[in-house]
Amino acid sequence: MTTHVHYDDRLGTWNVTGHPEMLSALNDPATFSSNIPRLFGEHPDDRISDGNLVQTDPPDHRKLRSLANTAFTPKVVAALQPRIVELTTELLDAVDGDLELVSQLAHPLPVIVIAELLGVPVSDRELFRQWADLLLLNDGEFTAKDEDGAQARRFQEMAAALQPMADYLLSHLNERRTRPREDLLTRLVQAELDGERLTDGQLVNFTTVLLLAGHITTTMLLTNTVLCLDENPEHAAKIRADRSLLPGAIEESLRLRSPFNVLARVTAVETALGGQVIPADRMVLLWANQANRDPRVFARPDEFDPLRDPNPHLSFGRGIHFCLGAPLARLEGRIALNLLLDRFPVLRTDPADPPVLTATTNSTGVSRLPLRTA
Ligand code: HEM
Repeated sequence: MTTHVHYDDRLGTWNVTGHPEMLSALNDPATFSSNIPRLFGEHPDDRISDGNLVQTDPPDHRKLRSLANTAFTPKVVAALQPRIVELTTELLDAVDGDLELVSQLAHPLPVIVIAELLGVPVSDRELFRQWADLLLLNDGEFTAKDEDGAQARRFQEMAAALQPMADYLLSHLNERRTRPREDLLTRLVQAELDGERLTDGQLVNFTTVLLLAGHITTTMLLTNTVLCLDENPEHAAKIRADRSLLPGAIEESLRLRSPFNVLARVTAVETALGGQVIPADRMVLLWANQANRDPRVFARPDEFDPLRDPNPHLSFGRGIHFCLGAPLARLEGRIALNLLLDRFPVLRTDPADPPVLTATTNSTGVSRLPLRTA
């Protein structure tokens, strides 16, 4: 019998690979807490979870999330459409000859969009990329074993490595306190939670998540969809001819090549899942990349099918932490891929100059994607 929940003795983690089991965990934040650092006795001075939406549990999560929601209303996202079209067109106009998708479109587009939304200088985008790589592409093993304090040290090292980013964001936030503008940073310094302004630590952690989660993942969405089309030329031809198929293709790309492979939780109490009993205070890894191919939920799970409906993939998570930026990522995906298909009659990988994969425990993507365009 296939097990969908199992314990990894070497790493001390509980691993969830089934779709219904992952869904149960995501929909039960009281049992499956997102506050991972507490497992390793995070020192109050190194707090990277305070104000960080992804690692905050209710009731604080609800308050922070409602604050964030005001920045990402459907109206705000829809209003970005013309600017995304303009940026994509400018980036594609600059392509002269062969296309390297990551550096010429898939990375700059989302990073410019999020920088403009927040109100930080777009010219600093190389810095954002370095910080995002540090956080998202670092391939530390997920382990719950911390006998020698290695995990606690890892959190402290991470906080120290990200200190320049914290200083950078704080200097911009402070500037808005004296000189308000029409941007998200200004709205955040003026915002109140329970009648109080957010602390510097909360503001920095909150904006860090937006800045970093908001771009590298969308880069992966764009490149991964192009890779899916490259692997499925018959579908690619149909999608070129009928663009109403594109949103379904993007969802399939998210399902088959989830930018985040795995989401982490900690059990707050003992609980039963998938026929197993997981004690309290254990790290639980939810493998989206496997749940997305669970044959109990997806027929022909390894097949790319742009017409798959419904497509309940878990690549944006589910429940209270469901990705705040999903509508924005989908919008950027649709615009950029439509314009790419309009512009280039051919978009194929070149065996002589293959994509450079960056598969880590955390994420799946490419750092270089050279394409033949004729
Ligand atoms: C949360 C994936 C794009 C901002 C999440 C989560 C996932 C995810 C899986 C849930 C994490 C968890 O439950 O532990 C993705 C993917 C993206 C993407 C695959 C692109 C294809 C974006 C963008 C933004 C963004 C463009 C912002 C502009 C956030 C935020 C959260 C989040 C703020 C935390 C929400 C919360 O905890 O309430 N994302 N994301 N994401 N995402 Fe995204």
